[in-house]
Amino acid sequence: MSLRLRLNLLVAMLNLGFLVALCALLAGEHRKSIEEETEAAHRVAVQLLGTAVQTSRLLGGGAPDMAAFLQSLGRVRGNEIRFRAGDGRIAYSSPPSSYKAGREAPEWFARLMQPRLEATVIGLPGARLEILPEPSRSILDAWDSLLPVIGLGFAFVIVLHALLWFLLRHLLQPTEADARRLVATTRELADQRAVSRLVHERVEEERKRVARELHDELGQSLTAIRLIATSLGRGEPAAQSQGIAKISEIAAGLYDSVHRIVRELRPAVLEQPDLAAAVDDLAREWRTRHPELVLDTELEGDLGDLGETTTLALFRAVQEALTNVLKHAAATRVALRLVRDEAEVRLDVTDDGCGGASLATGSRHGLAGMRERIAALGGTVQAGPAPEGGFRVSITVPLSGANS
Ligand SMILES: Nc1ncnc2c1ncn2[C@@H]1O[C@H](COP(=O)(O)OP(=O)(O)O)[C@@H](O)[C@H]1O
Ligand SMILES: [Mg+2]
Repeated sequence: MSLRLRLNLLVAMLNLGFLVALCALLAGEHRKSIEEETEAAHRVAVQLLGTAVQTSRLLGGGAPDMAAFLQSLGRVRGNEIRFRAGDGRIAYSSPPSSYKAGREAPEWFARLMQPRLEATVIGLPGARLEILPEPSRSILDAWDSLLPVIGLGFAFVIVLHALLWFLLRHLLQPTEADARRLVATTRELADQRAVSRLVHERVEEERKRVARELHDELGQSLTAIRLIATSLGRGEPAAQSQGIAKISEIAAGLYDSVHRIVRELRPAVLEQPDLAAAVDDLAREWRTRHPELVLDTELEGDLGDLGETTTLALFRAVQEALTNVLKHAAATRVALRLVRDEAEVRLDVTDDGCGGASLATGSRHGLAGMRERIAALGGTVQAGPAPEGGFRVSITVPLSGANS
């Protein structure tokens, strides 16, 4: 069942409940007043006719006089008067009321409103007078006054529901903006799920890489030290001093390896978050390692106080973009431009390589992770072939809000 229908039914039930309660209250009031009115009218009629019968007795009048009196009296309000002769035959019956003549309240309503009043019988020599309470006019009045209230109530409920039905249709219909938001949120959720999966995979890869490095770099060196140390006790003094020199050489290599691994795990940029210094260091190392590639750097503005999160995100973006150049671009030149102004930091890494047509197969997590990291800072990443050839990664990070 739709929400619209459910709301309508709920309001309908409340309205009908209210209407029924109102009708019951009004009907109860009317019933009480019909009973009081009929009882009062009956008492007056009984008194009047009782007095008439006594007077007639005193004056020695007979049944015909009584019938003539009743004839002249006509109808007494709220009562029916019957005069029966000794044999039970009705000698006189009061005429029907001319008030709202020919009309009656519905039978069920009349039964509901009917007061419980007894008829009164007055005996006369050789005849009897029956006075019966007759509330049909009062009941008809009550019906006539209740009918517009009930009709109006139902008309109100129907109009209200028609309005509610159309109103709810508009109110409950998602607007175009809602639909767009929903689609965007669904997309975002899907992206987030994909990114969190990538992050997990990346963490696992990183663990394996660190384990491999530790094994390859440290394991072999430590085994060599152990072997040399074991042979030291048995060898000649000359061989011993050679062994000690070898151990010292391996230990120095070990120190370098540990230093490199630690630097990769926690870059120096985190110790002192100055992006300019960190990028300069990285560029220097890169030029030494890859002399065949020309790396131009251009750093502008104060890049020393961007905060740890922004600094690290941009540093990792530079690392990833440069690694991609090596992996995918087949370039001869790379230009790295990092500019900070009042409102934002912009990073552009452009190469003169193949421009995205790389055949190298990678994990394809690098740019996705970069996007996620920069998006968390409210920034944007654009990556793709540059119009003038080659590949370009352009990043913008605003400097207000969460970039600390
Ligand atoms: N400098 C670049 N030159 C050419 N293609 C690139 C460059 N950088 C990225 N790409 C393309 O974009 C893809 C996605 O890069 P990335 O997300 O870093 O994943 P991965 O490096 O693991 O392949 C790469 O596979 C490559 O095809
Ligand atoms: Mg990559």
